[in-house]
Amino acid sequence: MKIAIINGPNLNLLGKRETDIYGGLSLDVVLSKLADQFEDVTFSFFQSNIEGELVDAIQKHGFDGDGIVINPAAYSHTSVAIADAISAVPVKVVEVHISNIFSREKFREHSFVSSKVDGVISGLGVKGYALAVEFLLNERL
Ligand code: DQA
Repeated sequence: MKIAIINGPNLNLLGKRETDIYGGLSLDVVLSKLADQFEDVTFSFFQSNIEGELVDAIQKHGFDGDGIVINPAAYSHTSVAIADAISAVPVKVVEVHISNIFSREKFREHSFVSSKVDGVISGLGVKGYALAVEFLLNERL
């Protein structure tokens, strides 16, 4: 089983950035916990602050494997290119937000990505990544 976990801008600062909202765990710790929790999954982990690199990653992982878990971060609210890349690929895609984007500033309520993915997990903290992986695995059964 192959799953790509793709994270967008500023998520490299997880654990240092607005810890009251995003928690105190670094991205490395979150991803290594994920790898420990799902030993049978071959993960590809990718993070970028650059929109086009996220498009490239979606294209790269979107035609094989068992799915993509993506937190497009701020690009959720701005990026038609990331939404189009998700529409272009056949694999299942789950959108994750650590925070509840519906209980924050108004501009966060709209995600260009949400209508293109299979499902959205928002507001369940970093646990959202594991819940998304569980969905992708059960989807295969
Ligand atoms: C986020 C929510 C976005 O609004 C924000 O720009 C982020 C992180 C989240 O995980 O809660 O950078 O995607």
